[in-house]
Amino acid sequence: SFRIGVLISGSGSNLQALIDGVKSGFIPAEIALVISNKADAYGLTRAREAGIETRVVDHKTFEGRSPFEHELIRALDDAGVELVCLAGFMRVLTPLFVRHYLGRLINIHPSLLPAFAGLHVQQRAIDAGVRFSGCTVHFVEEEVDAGPIIAQAVVPVLPSDRAEDLAKRILTQEHRLYPWAVKLFVEGRTQVKERVVHIQPAQWGAEQAL
Ligand code: GAR
Repeated sequence: SFRIGVLISGSGSNLQALIDGVKSGFIPAEIALVISNKADAYGLTRAREAGIETRVVDHKTFEGRSPFEHELIRALDDAGVELVCLAGFMRVLTPLFVRHYLGRLINIHPSLLPAFAGLHVQQRAIDAGVRFSGCTVHFVEEEVDAGPIIAQAVVPVLPSDRAEDLAKRILTQEHRLYPWAVKLFVEGRTQVKERVVHIQPAQWGAEQAL
């Protein structure tokens, strides 16, 4: 079946959403490998509990980004991965990695891109006074947090929000959005033309409730 690799650095709640999506049959694929650059990432426990192969590839044990990324590539290719999902993976990837997986590398980001690329995006959204924020699933290109957008979800920013309140509200939407975007890719329904993603409709009668 279609094989997915997931890269994480932390809690792995998005990974969990993908695990659940695979388990329920919503995503017609299997997660072949989960890699974390941090040995203590809770997402590794989630993966092990789901019986998924895990690897720790700690960037600190490599001399520079390129040997680190070569090791990631080796592990993912050995696992026969056809799609790489970044799910709270907190290392910037260089063109070496991005080019290797171009068109089969996707990321979820907790803002409505192109607004608020980078880090601390919830606090920056609050500070900017925007009334809505959300999350974005996009193809990864060489520029950070850019690349053709597959799907977005919107949440309100409330006057009383602290960054963590907004982060939590966005995360709830991430857990709906990411499995759906991955499903679209796995089903071959995402087509990129002139840097815009076109979504083909599901076969008649095959659409499932989100
Ligand atoms: C998520 O909000 C994800 O969008 C964000 O980190 C969190 C990971 O949570 N990713 C980035 O900021 C990428 N630069 P999780 O580990 O529970 O999925």
